Amino acid sequence: MNYKQKVMTLDEFTIQELRNFPGATGQLSGLLRDIGLAAKRVNVEVNKAGIADILGEAGKTNVQGEAVKKLDEFANDQFINSLKTSIYCAGVASEENEDFIAFTDEHSMNSKYVVLFDPLDGSSNIDVNVSIGTIFSVYRRLTPNGSPCNLEDFLQPGIQQIAAGYIIYGSSTMLVYTTRRSVQGFTLDPSIGEFCLSHPNIQVPKSSDIFSVNMGYYHLFDENVRNAIDLYMAKDAKDKIYRHRFVGCMVAEIHRTLIQGGIFMYPAFGKYQNGRLRLCYECNPMSFLIEKAGGASIMDKNTRLLEIKPNQLHQRIPIFIGSKHMVEDVKAAL
Ligand code: AHG
Ligand code: MN
Ligand code: MN
Ligand code: MN
Repeated sequence: MNYKQKVMTLDEFTIQELRNFPGATGQLSGLLRDIGLAAKRVNVEVNKAGIADILGEAGKTNVQGEAVKKLDEFANDQFINSLKTSIYCAGVASEENEDFIAFTDEHSMNSKYVVLFDPLDGSSNIDVNVSIGTIFSVYRRLTPNGSPCNLEDFLQPGIQQIAAGYIIYGSSTMLVYTTRRSVQGFTLDPSIGEFCLSHPNIQVPKSSDIFSVNMGYYHLFDENVRNAIDLYMAKDAKDKIYRHRFVGCMVAEIHRTLIQGGIFMYPAFGKYQNGRLRLCYECNPMSFLIEKAGGASIMDKNTRLLEIKPNQLHQRIPIFIGSKHMVEDVKAAL
């Protein structure tokens, strides 16, 4: 056996990282392990979604006014319970819960991190066996250790994130995250039940030939947004041809963008005057990942998305995110 080719697991990788940073306490690594464990539990259910009685509506409406799927609920419960049990998390906020949850046991109150998450992203894809995901975002709490966390701990601008990432339940299951330095991708090896380092130091290509936006809304977008989209629509045979992709799952769009480059847009329109995607659960963590991988993310012509101070947990926001040069072109067109 060639030991040089041994694949590094998530645990081994975080331990190695700790050795490189002697001042680190290991709490963030512990938190990432706990998130990875919740992801594995959700993955098991996602994989048997077609055979278990878990498909379809749970018969409830969440705080966003959307139908809640059973798998949304299951994933939400898994992440809340894992983070509640974790000794590294002071509290959580979830897309599926109206309010944040402060954990009040002694370990949790003495931990320094809060976690925000979208437990199941792309839930309209569940019934048709297309990729879905989980998105998470980690902040250092502002409130002192030893006390319960409060709303202000969760409403920090995205640039303050300590870590962010997603799990994609796709043709394979992957965990991709950043802890401010680099972006690392791990693929779940089902035979040993471990996430293994498969995509080290991911860098977004500076440009590519992919654009992604729900074109069904094209005529509802403002003129400046239509102008930006028109950059990618061939007008005659000599023009550069761009490929249009839209999965209906932000995790899948961002995963493709991290690897192949491109631009993903979810602008404001009609019934979604602030866009559809959520600042705290979706746009901030994805913008942090994309920026750490060398890409860019803006809310409008003048605003870097990560600099916005959220004013409420479930706030929505327009987003234009992806390859650096493509975001610059869109910015100029907006
Ligand atoms: P969620 O399943 O967490 O509610 O989010 C789905 C989001 C996002 O992932 C996707 O990009 C978008 O909804 C698709 O919305 P449209 O079908 O309106 O384009
Ligand atoms: Mn939803
Ligand atoms: Mn979502
Ligand atoms: Mn969701």
